[in-house]
Amino acid sequence: MRGYVLLAPAKINLYLEILGDRPDGYHEMAMVLQSVALADRVEVRANGAERFQVSCNHPQVPSDPSNLAYRAAMLLAQAFPEPFYQFGGAHITIDKQIPVGAGLAGGSANAAAVLVGLDLMWNLGLTQSELQDLGAQLGSDIPFCVSGGTAIATGRGEQLAPLPDLDHLHVLLAKYRSLSVSTPWAYQTYRQQFGDSYIREGDRLQQRRSAIHAGPMMGAIASRDGRAMGSLLRNDLEKVVLPAPDYAKVAALKQALLEQDSLGVMMSGSGPTVFALADSADQAMHLKQAIQQQLADPDLDLWVTRFCASGIQLSESL
Ligand code: C5P
Repeated sequence: MRGYVLLAPAKINLYLEILGDRPDGYHEMAMVLQSVALADRVEVRANGAERFQVSCNHPQVPSDPSNLAYRAAMLLAQAFPEPFYQFGGAHITIDKQIPVGAGLAGGSANAAAVLVGLDLMWNLGLTQSELQDLGAQLGSDIPFCVSGGTAIATGRGEQLAPLPDLDHLHVLLAKYRSLSVSTPWAYQTYRQQFGDSYIREGDRLQQRRSAIHAGPMMGAIASRDGRAMGSLLRNDLEKVVLPAPDYAKVAALKQALLEQDSLGVMMSGSGPTVFALADSADQAMHLKQAIQQQLADPDLDLWVTRFCASGIQLSESL
């Protein structure tokens, strides 16, 4: 087999609560993650060599070994040296549709696609959870990107519990092209400002982790109630990103979206993408036009997309 083309969907956070610190330096999280149809196209093509190459049509995406997709390939080659030498490496071509540095897990989605593509190319027959365990070694969002859909994520974000599909909802994504947020900066700043409110007792941490499984957001999701979900959106990282002088435009964007008719508005992940939920494609298109007219900023990119029920999807065999 010469290779595969995979679709790697973006994710948004419907809920992001920071519970406390972890001994590994990360944060203990309670999140609800959702895949959306906006996706990168990742081609993993056998190159007949004992190495990997990465190319991408986006100037901000590195082609060197710092690329998460490259690191995913190297991780798999180290874990499975025999198939690597037998079948060889790959040329990984990323057609970027997901904005970069946006809080939409675009890099993680690319890495997840490489794991799935090489698993197929090398006939490894790994299970989804084996792929997710490998992905977790490289980034907290990669396990979710493999399986996608709607899920509760706890731990670092890698402990997943799937939820019923919500593919009836639509979403407007809004991001200033010139802005990006460093995820480590967002979490470090949060720790500096709110670290004294972190939960430190194991029992209480466990209680809060369990609470997300039984809380009102789960009720809204179970009953597919978009309006209730919209009113329950939460993202603790907004508390550090939106007040930062560098991101004043993001706070104003969120405010402008809140003044329009939608089911709810929130920043995704560490930002700076802001999303608005809609219960129809028409409502999302209307929101897009209204915000385009109101803000009239050529630096503002807008996408209308919808919730999607899957993670990495095989699109083509080469
Ligand atoms: O896991 P990932 O590489 O995506 O995380 C990027 C950064 O975000 C980490 O280096 C860490 O600073 C922060 N982070 C965290 N707690 C998490 C996930 C990420 O502090 N649960």
